[in-house]
Amino acid sequence: MDFKEKIRVIPDFPQPGIRFKDITTLLKEGPAYRAAIDTMVERLKDKKIDLIVGPEARGFVVGAPLAYALGAGFVPVRKAGKLPGETIETEYSLEYGKDKLAIHRDAIQPGQRVLVADDLLATGGTISATINLVRQLQGELVGAAFFIELTYLNGREKLQGIDVFSLVQY
Ligand code: PRP
Repeated sequence: MDFKEKIRVIPDFPQPGIRFKDITTLLKEGPAYRAAIDTMVERLKDKKIDLIVGPEARGFVVGAPLAYALGAGFVPVRKAGKLPGETIETEYSLEYGKDKLAIHRDAIQPGQRVLVADDLLATGGTISATINLVRQLQGELVGAAFFIELTYLNGREKLQGIDVFSLVQY
């Protein structure tokens, strides 16, 4: 399936000059959403993944169905202050300023095989922070999977040595 054709590009959002990749047009088409997840599952099914870790909010839309299909658990990474239990946090850079991501301290057992998943790899800041949390909890990182990779932002350079898979590239 041509997934790129299902993703709507919106010019000048959220700022002039940015061409926003809008996955809602893919998500609302059942067969396209299923095919996107199935394609990822095909690539990941032999990796013996115990847990998918996905950052809010769009990481849930990719991570949760992957977890279900692989028979793995799902662990949410959230903006600091949202998770109810004891957490660890990590700071990460946004285009303007910084923010903090958090994970439950007991979400990963040391040695569990973890895949991180999100809708988009742009600068790689969000997924690097997510990986940092996984490593602090001694999860064994087996890869990173995305619907979309913006190759011109070089996010992969922050993910050296990690098996990175993206469905479509711009
Ligand atoms: C977007 C996207 C990724 C991240 C990618 O999330 O869903 O998580 O940016 O960018 P990066 O590689 O430069 O870090 P956003 O922060 O907009 O949050 P949202 O999913 O809650 O909308």
